[in-house]
Amino acid sequence: MNIFSTIWLLPLFTFIFVNDILPIEATHHVYRNLQSSDDSTDQLYRTAYHFQPPKNWINDPNGPLIYKGLYHLFYQYNPKGAVWGNIVWAHSISTDLVNWTPLDPAIFPSQPSDVNGCWSGSATILHGNKPAILYTGINKFNHQVQNIAYPKNLNDPFLREWIKSPKNPLMEPTIENKINASSFRDPTTGWLGKDGHWRILVGSKRNTRGVAILYKSKDFINWNKSKHPLHSAKGTGMWECPDFFPVLKIGKFGVDTSSNNDDVRHVLKVSLDDKKHDYYLIGSYNEGKDKFTPDHGFEEVSSEHVLRYDYGKYYASKTFFDYGKNRRILLGWVNESSSVADDIKKGWSGIHTIPRAIWLHKSGKQLVQWPVLELEKLRLNHVNLPAKVLKGGELLQINGITAAQADVEISFEVNNIRDAEVLDKWTDPQILCSQSSSRKNGLGPFGLLVFASKGLKEFTSVFFRIFKHQQKPLVLFCSDQSRSSLNKDNDLTTYGTFIDVDVLREKLSLRSLIDHSVVESFGGEGRASITARVYPTLAINDKALLYAFNNGTAGVKITSLNAWSMKKAQLNGKL
Ligand SMILES: *[C@@H]1O[C@H](CO)[C@@H](O)[C@H](O)[C@H]1NC(C)=O
Ligand SMILES: *[C@@H]1O[C@H](CO)[C@@H](O)[C@H](O)[C@H]1NC(C)=O
Ligand SMILES: *[C@@H]1O[C@H](CO)[C@@H](O)[C@H](O)[C@H]1NC(C)=O
Ligand SMILES: *[C@@H]1O[C@H](CO)[C@@H](O)[C@H](O)[C@H]1NC(C)=O
Repeated sequence: MNIFSTIWLLPLFTFIFVNDILPIEATHHVYRNLQSSDDSTDQLYRTAYHFQPPKNWINDPNGPLIYKGLYHLFYQYNPKGAVWGNIVWAHSISTDLVNWTPLDPAIFPSQPSDVNGCWSGSATILHGNKPAILYTGINKFNHQVQNIAYPKNLNDPFLREWIKSPKNPLMEPTIENKINASSFRDPTTGWLGKDGHWRILVGSKRNTRGVAILYKSKDFINWNKSKHPLHSAKGTGMWECPDFFPVLKIGKFGVDTSSNNDDVRHVLKVSLDDKKHDYYLIGSYNEGKDKFTPDHGFEEVSSEHVLRYDYGKYYASKTFFDYGKNRRILLGWVNESSSVADDIKKGWSGIHTIPRAIWLHKSGKQLVQWPVLELEKLRLNHVNLPAKVLKGGELLQINGITAAQADVEISFEVNNIRDAEVLDKWTDPQILCSQSSSRKNGLGPFGLLVFASKGLKEFTSVFFRIFKHQQKPLVLFCSDQSRSSLNKDNDLTTYGTFIDVDVLREKLSLRSLIDHSVVESFGGEGRASITARVYPTLAINDKALLYAFNNGTAGVKITSLNAWSMKKAQLNGKL
């Protein structure tokens, strides 16, 4: 029996024993996890349509790709428990990015260059439609090195088995290259220059300077480190999971990662280990000089110019080009907000966001993200409310859908900002959000109350508030978890950002994907997103209620409100 079948069959056999009340051979660890997944009261928070495996810990999405019409998603997975450890590349496939079928883990420790772990990495489609995966291995010295794996059989559309090159590691820290062996990880998808050389980035740091190390290769096997990194920024700390890709200046279509011409701009995303958020820069890429020049740098990570993919719980994201549908798809990991003790009790930890299409906004200043259209196949029981003014202090219940498993879209119209509060000085939006929802203000807060219990002992509010800033409207977009659960062991941080919507000229829209323990919200048609994890104790399943609310003093007009129940997706089956 090889390693991966051991990993997967052991829990399966153990499960059968547990059902027969014969847990003889089970290790303590495995047995405890299976006990908890057997107990349905612990499974209130499992998602119905957000990606997760049947149990255990997951983190980063890895190497997403499309091959022969099938989507492949790999992810960091602990086969042995609900906390981080024993990491392998688990593997699922899909025809629609919504329903997923699990396969055996694709990459697991087996070589001196990865005996201590197979960490994150990316897939590249090489000449002749041959996928290759570069990933970080933790070698026998506990050094981080970069390895390659290929599909064993290109005729298998499931790409079930992966073989590693005997040349691994392909990139490693040495005395000459002065790379810190504990800070050298997460290779990107490769892109091909006009000189015929492949390029990739590896995340790193020098002291507190975050660095995207550039490597070049003619054959994808022999790699030379470039003298200069593609980009770096002082004070930003370790750059994890870098991602570098072109976006069209105009339109929503995606382009191949190697595209580089006058029609595109480039995006560099890094996951800042110190801040646990994904930040991105838009800029110009000079291929000849191998230099990326962002329009706005990382100098002030908290300034309005440095953007994030998501202003809630969201990390270690990665994009890929879906050439089947000419779009670039973004996937991200959503961590739990519960305590480690609660994670162990429920037997799992971590989900992924709904895959999002991503493109450059017509302003050129930011990206736009929108859940893939395939998700809409899960919609059921359409509820549509006629336009209406929501008076200050009004609460409007949205009936007729399963409010704990729903997709809701609401649009507001604001005709003037007479009643808006004045904001003189730029203030951290997250702080403004945490002061907002429990106060009656001028224009807002208005938005949705999700996972609301009868009598509002619990609710999560996703809302807007409009300020007058230098005589112009300034829109704040928030997700407030402070009253989401009677269980106060959870991380209840309020999230928020300003959002670039000119409310006097366009409608202000909000879409929330609600799924038992997650609220994934999109403001301004995808100009900002906030993902929150919540664990209500009262507002569960059919006890959860949904409202539109306006806690401002001025009325706002709801121009449209559409809500759906969501069907359960096929999420990797059940053990
Ligand atoms: C290398 O990185 C590790 C992990 O962040 C850090 O603890 C260590 O101080 C770094 N070493 C040097 C020489 O910078
Ligand atoms: C890598 O370095 C070697 C030796 O200096 C050189 O011959 C080769 O052309 C380089 N390859 C690339 C892709 O830069
Ligand atoms: C995950 O969540 C825990 C608990 O809220 C937090 O301590 C940790 O920093 C988070 N990690 C990331 C990568 O977001
Ligand atoms: C609305 O504001 C009042 C205080 O004026 C507060 O008690 C109440 O919780 C707020 N409602 C929401 C939904 O935030």
